[in-house]
Amino acid sequence: MKKDLLTLQDITRDDLEKIFEISADMKQNRRTAGRNILAGKSIGLIFAKSSTRTRVSFEVGVSELGGYPLYLDQSKMQVGRGETVADTANVLSRYLHGIVIRTFSHEEVSELARVATIPVINALTDEYHPCQLLADMLTIKEYSGKVDKSIRLAFYGDGRSNMANSLILAARLTGMELVIAAPAEERPREDLIAGADNIHWEVDPVKAAEGVDYFYTDVWVSMGFEEERARRMELFRPYQVTAALFDKAKKDAKFLHCLPAHRGEEVAAEVMDSPRSIVFDEAENRLHVQKAVMSLLMGDKA
Ligand code: CP
Ligand code: NVA
Repeated sequence: MKKDLLTLQDITRDDLEKIFEISADMKQNRRTAGRNILAGKSIGLIFAKSSTRTRVSFEVGVSELGGYPLYLDQSKMQVGRGETVADTANVLSRYLHGIVIRTFSHEEVSELARVATIPVINALTDEYHPCQLLADMLTIKEYSGKVDKSIRLAFYGDGRSNMANSLILAARLTGMELVIAAPAEERPREDLIAGADNIHWEVDPVKAAEGVDYFYTDVWVSMGFEEERARRMELFRPYQVTAALFDKAKKDAKFLHCLPAHRGEEVAAEVMDSPRSIVFDEAENRLHVQKAVMSLLMGDKA
């Protein structure tokens, strides 16, 4: 593995298999596996945005690996008052053994990782959310037995969001078929999908559902985009994941969502709360994959 996990471009298919293997062990033997991997180590968790799953799963994860999780509200740090990211990285590298960061600008996370001598994990930026995708891929592997070109996943909504971007990188990594159902105004980034014939942009939400194994959606208004709320509600309305879409999909199609969910917006309540919805298995897997990643990047032994 590389020193940092900033996007899925930082990992290889072999790394992914290793993460799956360790995650499965962490999940099966939650009380015992990796208990001392972070013993004597302190991991800083810097958050500039709200979080339920990411914060809790990382704090619990560090603790279960025997380390000390240090939650840092970025608005209370000096970096919010003009200290440079580079100086912050230098200082934190003298105290901590790893940094997990959720913030707005992806460049800020890249700069932090560039200067820090300790591993940095991206816990969501405006552009990417790699930890979420690792949990999603583990969930697909658990339900389908594999994550490869035999899997067809359709993402509905904002084709340029951190989730859409991350799904594109996941499709590039695994070869799975990815359809992004999105309006032209928020179509997937050309630079990310260029040259990948397993990744498709589809304006028609009904067509996008054809033969799908997994439906995936995310909020229409991501953190930091609140001022665009009215425009986004209008734009994405035709892209709600409804029960009717499942008629076009494979018989056993499932529903994924990174959460938090807004019933009646990006997903109909009858889908979110149906047996097809595997969102809580998906959320649980955040804990297991992140423990695996921390053990590989920050642990003494995997
Ligand atoms: N999916 C996810 O990252 O959730 P939180 O925003 O609650 O951390
Ligand atoms: N796209 C969402 C994901 C939340 C986990 C956001 O950035 O707010």
